Amino acid sequence: MKRLISFILCVTVALSLTSCSFGGVKKKLTDPDLTYSMEELEELQTRELKISDYELPALYKYFEGKCRIGVVTDGYEYTNYETDDRAKGILKNYNAYVLENAMKPDHCNPAPGVYDFDAADAFVKTGELGSAELRAHTVVWHSQVPEWWFKADPEDTGSVKECYKKGRLATREQLEERLRTYIDELVPRYKNTVKYWDVVNEAISDNDNIIKDHTEKSYWSEIFGDVDGDGYYDDYIEYAFNTVREVGGDDLVLMINDYYMEWDETKTQKMYDTVERMLRKGVRIDGVGFQSHIGSDIDIDIYRKNLEKISGLSKIYDECFPEYKGNFRIQITELEMNMRVGELADAGFHPWSDEDYAYQADVYYRLFDMLMDFADQGIIDLILFWGTDDGHSWINSDLKENVPLLVDRKYRVKPAYWAVARAAIEHSGK
Ligand code: XIL
Repeated sequence: MKRLISFILCVTVALSLTSCSFGGVKKKLTDPDLTYSMEELEELQTRELKISDYELPALYKYFEGKCRIGVVTDGYEYTNYETDDRAKGILKNYNAYVLENAMKPDHCNPAPGVYDFDAADAFVKTGELGSAELRAHTVVWHSQVPEWWFKADPEDTGSVKECYKKGRLATREQLEERLRTYIDELVPRYKNTVKYWDVVNEAISDNDNIIKDHTEKSYWSEIFGDVDGDGYYDDYIEYAFNTVREVGGDDLVLMINDYYMEWDETKTQKMYDTVERMLRKGVRIDGVGFQSHIGSDIDIDIYRKNLEKISGLSKIYDECFPEYKGNFRIQITELEMNMRVGELADAGFHPWSDEDYAYQADVYYRLFDMLMDFADQGIIDLILFWGTDDGHSWINSDLKENVPLLVDRKYRVKPAYWAVARAAIEHSGK
């Protein structure tokens, strides 16, 4: 009998542990009696609440049925969310995550045959605990890529620029082989747990070129060359997408990600043309990421126009891949809104006032009101913030500090938090 009781006890403990580790944690972190209504929001925004507070509505829940709301993580939040407010805020408020740096190739493949997936493995555990979808950022980029990939001799101690000038760059065959080997290590490891993949990041040129070359510190297009002779140096993009698809399978959502499309119509057109070309060649690109490192001076009408332009690719995608009809999407992948007010504008240290925060909240509101139109159409399925709070933003440095996110340095939610929730509620007709 004693044995039976202790067996039942063990099973109960094991079951409750499992249910709380996988899926149940989010529920435990937020008061289930919250209504997510406008009346409740009006009342709550008069209080001082932190991202980790039980009484705070979980941000992602305002957007349920519209799109996911994501944030960058360090990977290891699953180990410390009970004691660390920031980790708790990540698990509580968001249902999509991306690693800020540790899934970039320079981190994962620092030397030939050397791989480091510790943070990425931890990230998967955080994702499971937070019942979140994950993004892999990024497979191919010109930055944060191991320099040895681009050198004929991986041991060459010269810079890549020097190798370029002196004819010591890798050949296409070498670079193809290195990328293929990397994809073979990376993709099978995460293909069942990571859904969205930035296969190519920041490929579109900001000068007269279409695709970046060495003048913008990218060596991919020149090393690969124009393999099919169509006049476009985008063959490395094609190779990367086809290889990740071949290794990862049909279920992965493979994306091309870039900056400035929020305001630059020329760049948006180049992205449109490049993706259209790929789709018509049979390269299945499932979506475009708008990084959205924007300022509070953003022109929301232009941003809307550029989103509409890229949304037009959905029709071409459906024509080219009828069996995946409706699968093309846009994601907002790296959002923060640099506050640009007052004389100091975008630089230095600014004594931000309540009026500044109200102004920022208003721009965030108008931005989300616009983005929700696309979410309602099902074309935007994720909005992800590039930072948890103003103290954890890549735009801060020793020379400048800004306040671009929804949460302040003490993890208190700002007026902007309520502003985006308000936009979501209004679009739900609640
Ligand atoms: C940034 C990280 O936030 C920084 O920590 C790192 O030092 C540099 O990279 N576009 C991208 C992201 O695609 O990967 C960049 O992330 C920000 C700009």
